[in-house]
Amino acid sequence: MCGIVAYLGAKEASPILINGLKRLEYRGYDSAGIALLNGGMHVYKTRGKVSDLEGLIEDKDLSGTTGIAHTRWATHGEPNDINAHPHTSPNGKISLIHNGIIENYAILKEELKQRGYVFTSDTDTEVLVYLIQDIYEHEKTDFAETVRLALSQVTGAYAIVVLSQENPDMLVAARKGSPLVVGIGEGEYFMASDAAPIVEYTRQVVYPGEEEIVVVSLKDGLKIMTIAKTEKTPYIQTLELNLTALEKGGFPHFMLKEIYEQPRTVRDSMRGRLNMEQGLVVLGGIQDYTRKLLNARRIIIVGCGTSWHAGLVGEYLIEELARIPVEVEYASEFRYRNPIIFEDDIVIAISQSGETADTLAAIEMAKAKGATILGICNVVGSSIARASHAGSYTHAGPEIGVASTKAFTSQVTILTLLALMLAEKKGSLAASRYYRLLHELNSIPEKIEKALKANEDIKKIAEIFSKTSNALYLGRGINFPVALEGALKLKEISYIHAEGYPAAEMKHGPIALIDAEMPVLVIATRKGHYDKMVSNIQEVKARKGVIIAIVSEGDDNVESMADYSIEIPETDEMLVPLLATIPLQLLSYHMALIRGCNVDQPRNLAKSVTVE
Ligand code: G6P
Repeated sequence: MCGIVAYLGAKEASPILINGLKRLEYRGYDSAGIALLNGGMHVYKTRGKVSDLEGLIEDKDLSGTTGIAHTRWATHGEPNDINAHPHTSPNGKISLIHNGIIENYAILKEELKQRGYVFTSDTDTEVLVYLIQDIYEHEKTDFAETVRLALSQVTGAYAIVVLSQENPDMLVAARKGSPLVVGIGEGEYFMASDAAPIVEYTRQVVYPGEEEIVVVSLKDGLKIMTIAKTEKTPYIQTLELNLTALEKGGFPHFMLKEIYEQPRTVRDSMRGRLNMEQGLVVLGGIQDYTRKLLNARRIIIVGCGTSWHAGLVGEYLIEELARIPVEVEYASEFRYRNPIIFEDDIVIAISQSGETADTLAAIEMAKAKGATILGICNVVGSSIARASHAGSYTHAGPEIGVASTKAFTSQVTILTLLALMLAEKKGSLAASRYYRLLHELNSIPEKIEKALKANEDIKKIAEIFSKTSNALYLGRGINFPVALEGALKLKEISYIHAEGYPAAEMKHGPIALIDAEMPVLVIATRKGHYDKMVSNIQEVKARKGVIIAIVSEGDDNVESMADYSIEIPETDEMLVPLLATIPLQLLSYHMALIRGCNVDQPRNLAKSVTVE
């Protein structure tokens, strides 16, 4: 979702800004723009990709050492040149980029209209830059104070950066509910939605808190105050992000690179946490909450999209191994249905980005009702990680492909560790099973490596089915969420309609869709509901359905029934999701590629959904 980049310093700003926008492309967007200060305010913006913006500015004078740039994911107003950011004040002297939604924009717009202002775009953002000009002209106060006064009238979510022609040596930024990071270089400052555009210039960063305004000035340095006007001391952190983690590393797409990274990322999620010598799981970040977890009335897991699917896998794991009741909720539903929350409830928020607006709001609400919040996030220092009482980072490294792959397996790994840690403390598992599971989990990275070897066979299957318009994914037990995740991956990047279903539910509707044209993907591994899955396969075959089966290696029985089969290594039933997911990710990837889709940046989708 919207990407923000800004630069203030001595270098030419435009290459830094354009390069920064490219680093943020993964977030998903539909238009791009840039504003540069060079005597006057020069704004260029267009619908389309950053490459379209590059085409537009090719023959323009791009000199200037201060500027802001933006990729927009449309909320208010269709994606077109006018609605693209930056938005500029009527006198042309102030430009602003924004990620989020100004919820009371209609009232503010009406008031400004009555004062004679004429608007050009359909966006909520334009209202804010007009308001800033109005206050600047009437209050005659300094520019940072003007922005503060304007924001005190705003409700909603925002990360903004404001550029002023009359104050060319400074940038004013602020955030509430949307992400923003400020990079501090030698006599220069960078601002961005995340660290990706900054890391190649500096590792010194500040993450402004909620409702904080940041002023960077070549004269006065960096200052932070709250919207309520309290001064804050900036907390400078050192980024650990590695630049090569943001590159494709020889792979044609980020998604493929990230699929192939999984043996390592799953290992990284377990590193220092799975102690094979002592037979222990130690989740340092949440250790202090072990008692609370063991005594919890229930655990409520909240998340969106793929993270919600990981939560469903977590439900099977924690209930089966640790015997603690678990509910899994879509964050967007949970936050608005006035849920009953007890003080001895634990809410676990799962989020790759740590910025998903609904998940963040859900935990804020649960926290206000007294629940303990644990976060499972990938992005270090993200809003959800900070809003949680405690948590465990997944350590999967930056995930750039919009379709989540390695983040999912890392989230499932953390949930498996959590379930095992609780099971051990609670004594809910026979010691033999507990140790077997530890050993199995420890060998999962090698087994993922093996599962990836099916890539060429999967590519052939993708070629056969690339023209299909529907697909059904079936699984039982802990593999039901895997079916959901497999279907989501296919939908997201190949635009094929796909549904995931618990295999037995097929009889209650989807069976009507089955014919010789529709591929039915079944997760039919040897462990867990095997015979039942075999029956479901027979039901599909009896209706001339086409079966693509994910099977345990050497399972001739299902292989002889299925039209196509993909083998994965044998493992414990509880760990099958970590393996069965791999071929489904690869299948979606190849299908999308053959269909000519933009694998890393599928249409309409955003990587980090910072508006509700
Ligand atoms: C978006 C992404 C999905 C992701 C979901 C939740 O829809 O495209 O891949 O699963 O948001 O994101 P989170 O960052 O909270 O895991």
